[in-house]
Amino acid sequence: MSESPSLRVLVIGASGRLGRELVAGLRARRMPWRGTTRSDVDMAAPDAALRIEQCARSFDADVLINASAWTAVDAAEADEAAALAVNAGGAEAVAEAAARLGARALHVSTDYVFDGRLRRPYREDDATAPLNAYGRTKLAGEERFLRRLRSGLVVRTAWLFGRAGSGFPAAILRVVRERGRAEVVDDEWGRPTSHADLAAALLLLLGCPELHGIVHFCNRGVVSRFEQAREVCRQAGVDPELVHPVSRGLSARAATRPAYSALDTTRYTAATGEQPPDWRDALRRALAQGG
Ligand SMILES: NC(=O)c1ccc[n+]([C@@H]2O[C@H](COP(=O)([O-])OP(=O)(O)OC[C@H]3O[C@@H](n4cnc5c(N)ncnc54)[C@H](OP(=O)(O)O)[C@@H]3O)[C@@H](O)[C@H]2O)c1
Repeated sequence: MSESPSLRVLVIGASGRLGRELVAGLRARRMPWRGTTRSDVDMAAPDAALRIEQCARSFDADVLINASAWTAVDAAEADEAAALAVNAGGAEAVAEAAARLGARALHVSTDYVFDGRLRRPYREDDATAPLNAYGRTKLAGEERFLRRLRSGLVVRTAWLFGRAGSGFPAAILRVVRERGRAEVVDDEWGRPTSHADLAAALLLLLGCPELHGIVHFCNRGVVSRFEQAREVCRQAGVDPELVHPVSRGLSARAATRPAYSALDTTRYTAATGEQPPDWRDALRRALAQGG
């Protein structure tokens, strides 16, 4: 599977963690790109589709990638309407702009559309049943995006971490260093995934114009949050025994997470011919990068 170096790509949400990795990937591949941030397009505003269309036209974009989202999972519990405006309204705006332009569009979604009752990796067509407000708004985004743009592609992913371990790894290291211990749930399972590998996967999927609907991408390997935290410590040269297991019932987070949300990536591999890299290798690369 080869990428498509001549495609002109508009990255929506170019200043987010995924957005920045997409931009780095496009630069490295010498592909023509432009990015939008909140100051160009407010994804929650009624004129979002029009603004996206204008940005895309001024650059003659062939494809739009939506990396913008309300990603504060716990905060969404208190303001679901605001999260919905970005995660569903914004997704629909991307689809609407792409439809008017005759462009392709990729949109990013989440494992939190599932309720976590399965004990095998979730496939694209498994029943969705989000447990929290964030998951509901992202599911509404998938539905509105695909309804508006039949040729659109939704890429679900999970448990993202970024440069210098930003996200969960950095948070664990901070807690361990500050308090000398961390308590992490050992009954929540998933597939940690790096923003950089997700960005590379999205760029690879540009070479699959026939693929539409939903596809899953995650790094390889299913672990509990507790195991992930211990591996983070091991790789960072911190004693992993400082991480202690606790049950989800004792966690003080506002939003309920699925107990098991590993995603099956068979469809991704069939389309691209690529196996996702192992999450431990992805973590090693992320920790080695500056923030
Ligand atoms: N992080 C995870 O663990 C995870 C897991 C599964 C799926 N995902 C999905 O992966 C995708 C990328 O997430 P990420 O980790 O890169 O998130 P991120 O770092 O939080 O980036 C989100 C971007 O969206 C922008 N944004 C938010 N509200 C906006 C608005 N009203 N108008 C315009 N821009 C707005 C943010 O801009 P500001 O900086 O200006 O706020 C930010 O640049 C999202 O679709 C997310 O749902 C994430």
